[in-house]
Parts: sequence; structure tokens; C-alpha cells
Amino acid sequence: MNYGHFDDKNREYVITNPKTPYPWINYLGNDDFFSLTSNTAGGYTFYKDAKFRRLTRYRYNNIPIDNGGKYFYIKDGGTTWSPGWKPVKTELDHYECRHGMSYTKFKSSKNELEAEVVQFIPIGFWGEIQKVSLKNTSSVKKDIKLFSFIEWCLWNAEDDMTNFQRNFSTGEVEVKDSVIYHKTEFKERRNHYAFYSVNETIQGFDTDRETFLGLYNDLDKPDVVGEGHSKNSLAHGWSPIASHYLEIELPPGAEKELIFMLGYVEVEKDQKWESKLVINKQPAQKMISAFDTTEKVDRALEELRIYWDNLLGKVSIKSKDPRLDRMVNIWNQYQCMVTFNMSRSASFFESGIGRGMGFRDSNQDLIGFVHQIPERARERIVDIASTQFEDGSCYHQYQPLTKKGNAAVGGNFNDDPLWLILSTTAYIKETGDYSLLEEMVPFDNDASRAKPHFEHLKASFYHVVENLGPHKLPLIGRADWNDCLNLNCFSEDPNESFQTTENEKGGVAESLMIAGLFVVYGKEHVKLCRQIGKDKEADEAQLYVEAMIDAVEEHGWDGEWYLRAYDHFGKKIGTSENEEGKIFIESQGWCSMAEIGKDKGMVEKSLNAVKEHLDCDYGIVLNYPAFTKYYIEYGEISTYPAGYKENGGIFCHNNPWIMIAETQLGRGDRAFEYYSKIAPSYLEDLSELHKVEPYVYCQMIAGKEANKPGEAKNSWLSGTASWNFYAITQYILGIRPDYQGLIIDPCIPKAWDGFRMIRTFREATYDIDISNPDHVSKGIKQIFVNGNPLEGNLIPLLAKGKVHQIKVVMG
Ligand code: GLC
Ligand code: GLC
Repeated sequence: MNYGHFDDKNREYVITNPKTPYPWINYLGNDDFFSLTSNTAGGYTFYKDAKFRRLTRYRYNNIPIDNGGKYFYIKDGGTTWSPGWKPVKTELDHYECRHGMSYTKFKSSKNELEAEVVQFIPIGFWGEIQKVSLKNTSSVKKDIKLFSFIEWCLWNAEDDMTNFQRNFSTGEVEVKDSVIYHKTEFKERRNHYAFYSVNETIQGFDTDRETFLGLYNDLDKPDVVGEGHSKNSLAHGWSPIASHYLEIELPPGAEKELIFMLGYVEVEKDQKWESKLVINKQPAQKMISAFDTTEKVDRALEELRIYWDNLLGKVSIKSKDPRLDRMVNIWNQYQCMVTFNMSRSASFFESGIGRGMGFRDSNQDLIGFVHQIPERARERIVDIASTQFEDGSCYHQYQPLTKKGNAAVGGNFNDDPLWLILSTTAYIKETGDYSLLEEMVPFDNDASRAKPHFEHLKASFYHVVENLGPHKLPLIGRADWNDCLNLNCFSEDPNESFQTTENEKGGVAESLMIAGLFVVYGKEHVKLCRQIGKDKEADEAQLYVEAMIDAVEEHGWDGEWYLRAYDHFGKKIGTSENEEGKIFIESQGWCSMAEIGKDKGMVEKSLNAVKEHLDCDYGIVLNYPAFTKYYIEYGEISTYPAGYKENGGIFCHNNPWIMIAETQLGRGDRAFEYYSKIAPSYLEDLSELHKVEPYVYCQMIAGKEANKPGEAKNSWLSGTASWNFYAITQYILGIRPDYQGLIIDPCIPKAWDGFRMIRTFREATYDIDISNPDHVSKGIKQIFVNGNPLEGNLIPLLAKGKVHQIKVVMG
């Protein structure tokens, strides 16, 4: 069953049934100011940091799910309804929620009254706009009453949800004209307030939640709406809200447009007040007047469209498969921007309180984003590297507001440093900007300890070299990419976190995943050193890479696949000798991508073993068989029920590693089969089972040993977005930026006749037409660049500002 459809022309997903199997959401905002909004208008808004600067309140894990948001109540005669269906839930004559690129549009109607609400955040603006249009399509005059509703969060989202003894006494508001100001804690240490306005004279307002709702009412039946007029309540403590009340007369055929704005203001310390305890409203007024007419709002919407035209225009394809085109051209790229902005902080599965920016996560997110806005990618790389220590280790996370390492979530994940080589080399290949390597970047956020960025890469590389175990394989530390493989933890206390408990010392747990990762990014490091003329460094590093390859061949092979790890006591993990967890995806992916033992057939065997043991109808599971008991020496992984998350779930983040490895072997049919198994647009018809949005990737789909294989969770914020984009565009479609040009190396299903990609690269446009007359998966017979034959498959840098015709014949 479908709950909507794709509208590719408008780059929208159109939801036509509000009762989706889970809230299907969208993100508004692209730089500092953000909102999450669901298909029933649920969600919340924050400035930069979902924990420390939350403007509106949202209750996670609520009953029913997704209660609370930016709501409108329309009272038309005896009927009350909401354009987003919730909170009133009156059955609508028509309902449509269009999630587009950084905007969401609700279109609905009831009793010949049409309502449209367009929600978005203008580029560079610290405010969210809701453009509301009401149209009377009947032949009689209507007298409409419109109530808006938002609930303020008292800024620190965690404190807001826990510290009631204080917070019920701190809330403060001001109302002036049609603007409701939220100024809790402004008197003391805050230099920011929020406001909610409408560009029309209001007939009333409410700011006290209990007065508006009635203490025992739910959001669907506020007292004020029932009574048909607001009470002009002024909140003192308890729970401040903002609700406007408007009476609107609509003759037959008439239309009314209103602009609501939820804004955020920061003021200088000496400019906080207009008079005693009256806040300085000038900055808010300025924001309001920037968008006080429909024309201004429509212009900003148009700017947003152009902004996305530009971003998405940098890589686009045309194939015979619309599901593929819409992933590559629209939704996958869009999700890459969102993961770049949010890391793992705020979604409908991440509370915005728990996690800041992850060192490994944010580095990986860059590979799907760097072509969009390279300047922001560069800034991010510097921010991340600034949280590293001189020995290459790093904080696992940092807070976006302060950009400082977050000691509370620990460190010592020994894969972390290597991802910096991935992001940095991806950035330089995309842009040719080597100057990043010379930029002075602090260690531990201490400017006095700054060194050129290149030294950070070197520190990352040598952190592995200096932390080897008895088999000369990398020590795992707290865990590697798999956060739940906690081999030194031995936790018996349910109240302690596997991620931060004190690890047992003296262990020898080693990771084959980090070994493969080191060979891949070690080679990248060597290649980069050569690019910049550091041959001696390259030669030295090369020896360590070779030693790692030897160590894996000698101690990391189980006969049919790569081992996963050695535990604290030196026992093998991921071996056929074990009863459970015989084989794991991560080491197959990384050691195969590293091509360790390829000439001995190891890669082929490993990938065949993945197909045989890990693949299922819905994707490739992480390990098999899943653990059914708690193995104290393995940590969190065995706490999950079999088939979920890191224990036998389809962890979509790592599936593309196998896709890439398959393309290196030339098996295009298999690579694409894996791609289409988890790409959301291919799962649209499975929506009822899959549950989450059919336009974005999720972190995890329940695996073959789960209770409900194919059911997905944790949509949106996952490294899945960038890795899948990287795998499909650079390895399956095979068009890959390199230091000296674009490599053309597709590995596609044999049945394909070809495809076309238009790609902006170093300010030139490459219009690449690939044909596959012999129906091969891989291999190139001939390339023509602007009509001239080319030797090899590296298209050199071509004249900037021009369109270049590239013809590729496979065979
Ligand atoms: C989550 C984390 C990521 C980790 C992965 C596997 O997605 O954000 O850092 O690598 O889980 O455990
Ligand atoms: C992994 C899991 C994530 C969890 C974290 C810490 O990243 O995927 O859900 O929060 O480990 O346990």
C-alpha cells in the first residue's frame, strides 16, 4: 500500500493519507536555523543546537506518537479542523502534504474551504515562515475563526524536560500588537529571545497553555477554540505558548493570505531593553518587515528553489529507471545535506539532546556533501580536526554551538582518526584546493597547539601504527566503527553505558575492520603525500601499509572470509569455529575494498560468503548468525535482540561498502542488486512493512533473523546517506573525482544500455554519455572528449565555465 507518490518535477514527495505508518518528516533550514516537520505538522524548531537553543517544545515517545507541533485550528461554522489533519483530526475532504527541498506544503479542504500552509526558512534567515492561504470555494459567505498554536521550549531542551521544580516558575512572555515574544531567562544570562508573529491585526491571543487548552484537554480540543474566542492570557511560569486568534470574513470565492513568523533574535548585552523589563523589539520588527507581504515571501521561496537547483545541478543523471534518477538527482543528495547539517542530533529517532557532531560520522557525511558546498565542507573538516589530539586520537563528539570536544561521551574509538583522511582527500579531489593542508589547525581546540592540517592526517595515520596488537593488527580501543563491539568493556551493570564506562586495561583486542580501513586510507595517505611531493613520507607510510596487508593475510583470514576481530583475550571473532557471529560485514567490506589477498582469491571468496551468509531479501545483515545470548566479552552488540541494530540488523550504512567492493571485482549486477534492495524509492510499495519515509534512507532495517524482517527504523540521520551516494555515483555509475581529473569507471548491470551524467567538476561541466552496446558490466572500449579520442579513462581537467561532451563506449 502506498501513502503518496513522488512528484519528481517539483522534487516533492506527496503524502495523500495522513495516517502514514510512522510520522514522515522533512527538514527546513540550511544554515543556522532549523525545523523538523512531520506530515501532520508535528515537530519543532531550534537555532544551531537542538539541545541548547530549542525554540519550541516537542515530547518524544509521546502517546499518540507525534503530538505537538506548529498547529492551526480553523473554525468554520460548527466544524473545526486543521490543515495538517492534526491535532484536530477531523476527516478532511482533501489532504496533501508535500515535502520538498527545505519546505513543506499542506493543502487541504473541508466544507468548501481550502487551506494551504507553506512552511520554510528563508536562506540565511533566523526565522521560519508559515504562509497560510484560505479560500472560500462555496457560494455563501464564511466567517472563519483561525487560531495558531506553538508551545515554547525553555531553551535547554534537556533541562526543559526534567527540571520542573524550577521551570514552572521561570516562563516569561510579552505581547505587543500581533507579536508574541518569548523571553524566559532573558533578564539574566541569555541574550536571545524568540517571537511568533502574524502580519495582520489579531482579535486576541493566548500565551498560557492551561488557559488555552484547559487542564484536562488534549491538543485536539482546546477550550479556547471550543468557546470560539481567545482569553488574552499572559503566562507567568508554567508553560508559555503562543496562540493568535483571527476572525476572517470570506465572501464566496474570496481568498485571504497571512504570514506567520517564528523568529530568533540575539542582541548585544547593552541593547537588551527598550525600557525597564521591556525587551528591545527592534531586531524582531526588522525581521518581520522583511517578510510582511506575500510577494516578499514568494520571492524567498523562489530563492530557495534556485538554491536547490544549483546544488542539485552539480551531479545529475538520466537513466531508464526513474527510481534511480530520483534518488541520485533529488532525495539522496538532499539527505546528504541534512546529515551534514544535523549529524546524528535531531530526528524523530534522535532527541536532539543525546549527541553532538560525531568525529567519524561527520567525516563520513562529507563524502556525499563535498560537491554541493565545498567551502562549508572545508570549514567542517577544520572544526573536526580541531578536536583531535597530537597523538591522533580524538574526542568522539563535539557540540556544534561551541565546537568544543565533548568529554562526557568519551573517546578512544580507534577507527575515528582514519576518517579524517577520507574527508580531506575527498575534499581535495573535488576541489583541487591543497591549501587546506597548510592551514594551521589546533589540537584539542587550543590555538597555541595549532599545526598545519597535514600534520593531523599524519597523526591519524600513525595513531594506528602506534597502536598495534600481538598480531600486528590495530587495537580496537573502546570500539571501532561498530560502536557496539565493546571488546574491553565487560559490563554487568545495566546502569552504565557501553560507550563511556572505564575499559579493562591490558587487553589485546584487535580489529580487522580497522585493518582494512587503514589499508584503504593508508594508501590514500601515501597517494596524497606523493601528490604534494613528500616522497620520503610516502615511502615510509607505504611500508606500514604493506605490513598491515601481510598481517591481515597471515592472521585475519578464516578460510572463506576475513575474521572480524580478536577479543580481549586474543580469541577470534567472526570465525566459522564460533557458534554465533561467524561472519561480519565490516571486515568483508573493508578488507575487500583494500583488496587484501585479491590475487589469492580472498576478496572473491569473502564477497561470495557475504552473498551466501549475510544477504537477504531486504539487504545485507551485519553479522550471522545473530547473537542470541549476552556475551559479556563482546559488549553492547549482544544486548540487541537477534536481527536488530548491530546484532544481525541490516545496518544500511555498511551495505555500500560491499557494493563498492563488488564493483572493484567487476560484478555490476550484484552491486546494483544490493543498491536497489535498500534504496528507499525502490521500497515505496513496501511502505506498510518498511514504515519509514520512502524518500530517505534509514539507519537500520530489521534483518532476516528479526521478528519482522524488512521493518525499518531510524530514518534520516545516518552515514547511509553519504555512503550510498558515494557508492552509486562514484563506483556503480563510476564517475569519480581524482586529483588530476575525473575517472570514468562504471560497473553496472549488464542489461543496461547506458546512462548519462552531467557533472560539475572544478568549475567545468562534464556531459557524460555512457553507452553499453555489448552489455558488459565493466570495461571501456573508447572515450571521446569533445570529439577527440582519449587514452585511458582519466578525463583531464578541462576549460572552466564550459560544457564538455564526453562519449564513453563500454565493452
Ligand atoms: C551509529 C553511529 C555511528 C556508528 C554506527 C555503528 O550510526 O552514529 O558512529 O559507526 O552506529 O555502530
Ligand atoms: C551505535 C548505535 C546507536 C547507539 C550507539 C551507542 O551507534 O547504532 O544507536 O546509540 O551505538 O550505544
